[in-house]
Amino acid sequence: MRSVKFNIPFLTGNEKDYVNEVFASQEFSGNGAFTKRVQEMLEKILGAERVLLTHSCTGALEMAALLAGFGPGDEVLVPSYTFVTSASSIMRTGATPVFCEVDENTMLLDLNDLERKINQNTKGIVAVDYAGFGNDYARINEICEMHNLVCIEDAAQGLGAKWNGKSLGTHTRFGTISFHQTKNIHSGLGGCLIINNRDDVEKAEMVWERGTNRSAFFKGLVDKYNWQVVGSSFYPSELQAAFLCAQLEQVNENLSRRLKLWNYYERLLKPMEERGILRILREPAGCEHNAHMFAIILSNSQEADRLRLHLNENQIQAVIHYVPLHESPVGKELGYTPESLPITSKTASSLIRLPLHLSMNEDDIEYIVKILQTLYLPLD
Ligand SMILES: Cc1ncc(COP(=O)(O)O)c(C=O)c1O
Repeated sequence: MRSVKFNIPFLTGNEKDYVNEVFASQEFSGNGAFTKRVQEMLEKILGAERVLLTHSCTGALEMAALLAGFGPGDEVLVPSYTFVTSASSIMRTGATPVFCEVDENTMLLDLNDLERKINQNTKGIVAVDYAGFGNDYARINEICEMHNLVCIEDAAQGLGAKWNGKSLGTHTRFGTISFHQTKNIHSGLGGCLIINNRDDVEKAEMVWERGTNRSAFFKGLVDKYNWQVVGSSFYPSELQAAFLCAQLEQVNENLSRRLKLWNYYERLLKPMEERGILRILREPAGCEHNAHMFAIILSNSQEADRLRLHLNENQIQAVIHYVPLHESPVGKELGYTPESLPITSKTASSLIRLPLHLSMNEDDIEYIVKILQTLYLPLD
């Protein structure tokens, strides 16, 4: 039987050559020539003040939470519908995540719910750019200014996407991106921290360099380096940076090919949307998404399970996404019940993601849509 995998990691064919260059240089450990080159590439692609490569987006989120100065007694607002480490990075500082609802149309933060949850302990926001869709950063920045909050933009899935003409990850004080192999562009594991305020750069480099001023030492600014702040070992090896360099060289081609597949799905599934069978998850106004995922929302969780199992039985790897954090064991320990955030719970369990990767072609999409339709043919 024909099968379609949910994801096959993107490869350009040049990764091995670049990794061999690292072998030739015998400089493996990180913050070397490839790391610097890739950081400059990302600064240019994103239009960012400063980018630091990290071993993962999780690492970048942990750096951002440290740099934001969150600590015990502080509350940080975050959507419940996100990956675990958007919230665990907050808890690693001793602060408490406060879960907010998402807007069922976009799966982005519901800013009305967020505003209701602000109190005198609130110190920040982690805004998640789900599916490479941008949040309303004009309003988020206004809220931050009004209440003196620090916002971290978790753009794990957002490379190549824009809000209001500006790259995701560059809208608030800190941004983060993932280069995990499930992302459009990757290095196996990997990520970066985007520092959008020049005043944060020096401390960020120290946190990144295990809490030392080693970066200043390498720039010849000090004659020896020592321990300055609490940091950690946040950067990747040169092997990952070399791999990522090959991938980033094809970022535009990658994006346009993904968008083509996304648009084809949309065209073929629109008639089913018009019949009320499903809803296509689309970006809000003002966004240019990056075709990171193609998600559909069914009328309820039973319908979503029925369709997902039907696709899986036909060897099409359709998958769910996040289990809301407020429903998790840690969420329960924090005092939430599954009923705490009803819109998030209902929409999350009604959403499924269809395969989307560059080893697929339009023929695969026609096949997936045909199999999907067979579940509904008896209704005709
Ligand atoms: C929204 C979000 N934040 C953070 C992460 C963590 O990324 P990484 O696996 O690079 O640590 C992910 C992972 O997919 C994610 O979806």
